[in-house]
Amino acid sequence: MSKSVILKSSIAKKYWMAFTGLFLCLFLVGHLLGNLQLFYAGEEGRRAFNEYAYFMQHNLLIKVMSYVTYLSILFHAIDGLLLAFQNKKARPVQYAMNKASANSSSASRQMALLGSIILIFIATHMVNFWGKMHFGEIPLHTLTKAVNVPISQDPNTGQIVKADIEFSYFLTTNGEYKQYAYKDPKTKLFESQMEVREETKLFDKNSNLEVAEGYKDLHSVVMGFFGKSANGNDVNELAWLAVLLYTISMAVLSFHLMHGFASAFQTLGLRHPRYTAIIKNVGMGFAIIVPAAFAAIPLYIFFK
Ligand code: HEM
Repeated sequence: MSKSVILKSSIAKKYWMAFTGLFLCLFLVGHLLGNLQLFYAGEEGRRAFNEYAYFMQHNLLIKVMSYVTYLSILFHAIDGLLLAFQNKKARPVQYAMNKASANSSSASRQMALLGSIILIFIATHMVNFWGKMHFGEIPLHTLTKAVNVPISQDPNTGQIVKADIEFSYFLTTNGEYKQYAYKDPKTKLFESQMEVREETKLFDKNSNLEVAEGYKDLHSVVMGFFGKSANGNDVNELAWLAVLLYTISMAVLSFHLMHGFASAFQTLGLRHPRYTAIIKNVGMGFAIIVPAAFAAIPLYIFFK
């Protein structure tokens, strides 16, 4: 292959990397805003997050954007690795021509390595959350509450006898908590005329009719992954490791963005001296704030 063809193909690759990289930065902002809801505690926070996850899974535009995101990640990673490989092969020529190594930061030279670590992070991250949400078994959003209800009447005094009975409520996509089971005080087992079918749908066992649709409890999956489970008792013994690996990955992401953000704008032609400093500073702010906010989520869940 001639040198000009190599140059052309590596310029095209750089453009694609810049486009996909900036698109992925937008994805990061959107993903962060959604995940910040994990700081919102209690049943209301759990509900807000699960409703949000349901919306993300059912909205057509978001679905399309998700596929664009997956493709962008693949394109960005493959192009980046090919570019690094090409640069390595052409290095002696490039050193002599423009001393690339002299003006590239250490982050620049490590971009391929940092990117590969991020790719491994994304793959494992998607197995743990996205994979479970789409293909795994996830508990549904239910709530158990003890309610003081009349259970009998004293035949002598006529007084109503009350007792605490535990009821299970099913959060429906219509926004109501539907009572669907109760704990029999004698057998201590939950009894119900209804059952869940097709993952999220509640059916009446007698009529076989659908009663309501519910939400997958992704919130509890995330909480359980980084710390305690929804009931606050079951502790994930390996949560510390997950939190540590997430924090390290966010530091890696930060270094990757420190170089990548400004470099993408440069590739797309915004090289005017007036903007260079602004882009560099915005890029630096983005590279620090976004990964730090992401890292704060597992740390908060673990230590709270
Ligand atoms: C550290 C805090 C983070 C938390 C708590 C978190 C949580 C989640 C959850 C719960 C999902 C599943 C959503 C669903 O399937 O509906 C998800 C999906 C995903 N996450 Fe994260 N995430 C974090 C950071 C990141 C970072 C830093 C990246 C990228 C570098 C990332 C990339 C992705 C991708 C690509 C998906 C699939 C998105 C889609 O299907 O549209 N996440 N994340």
